[in-house]
Amino acid sequence: MTIKVAPSILAADYLNLERDVKLVEDAGAEMLHIDVMDGMFVPSISYGPGWVKALRPVTKMILDVHLMVEQPERYIDTFAEAGADIIGVHVEATQHIHRALQQIKGHGKKAEVVINPGTPVSAIESVLNMVDQVLVMTVNPGFGGQKFLPETLQKIERLASLKKSLGYDFDIQIDGGANDETSAMAYKAGATVAVAGSYVYDKVDPAAKIARLKEVTTD
Ligand code: DX5
Ligand code: ZN
Repeated sequence: MTIKVAPSILAADYLNLERDVKLVEDAGAEMLHIDVMDGMFVPSISYGPGWVKALRPVTKMILDVHLMVEQPERYIDTFAEAGADIIGVHVEATQHIHRALQQIKGHGKKAEVVINPGTPVSAIESVLNMVDQVLVMTVNPGFGGQKFLPETLQKIERLASLKKSLGYDFDIQIDGGANDETSAMAYKAGATVAVAGSYVYDKVDPAAKIARLKEVTTD
């Protein structure tokens, strides 16, 4: 087994997006991570459902939409209709995480709950039975290119142990500062998916970076 790789297009070349998407798909990436930022929940503004709709026909990869948006329930329907496969909502961004996850599942999509570095696993324990993926932010959300926070590894371990003891099979995803070293540590702690933006796209040869992430997480 190896970790699944989800390149984040936040670090791709927007004027050559189709090329950059095909490149990572051909290199064996399983998911494409799409960071939606609203300028409120996080300071940055990125892109919206139109990008998901445009990407849908050009790739077979799973489209993994990470909503960094206040009250994400306002946009779940739109992203589901645009062609997202997985929709992730931050527990910090809604007063009704259970309802938001139900809304995602109501569209037949995979439901993901996300926790910031300052949020404990206990905040999402009561919804673990209904999610397909848990995203543990390994940096504070809002920007690519930040440094992995090693204290988040404990939360991955805790989630992996809950998953085992409760008999669930959700994926555990890390997002932020993923590279060959940090992904190997996270994989050991129980992570099953690594989102990687700058590591994959910022320097030469994204395909070699994906191969490297697979190589360091082979057991
Ligand atoms: C951060 C985003 C990440 C970002 C990761 O707010 O959620 O998905 O693209 O970028 P890197 O891999 O460069 O830390
Ligand atoms: Zn993300």
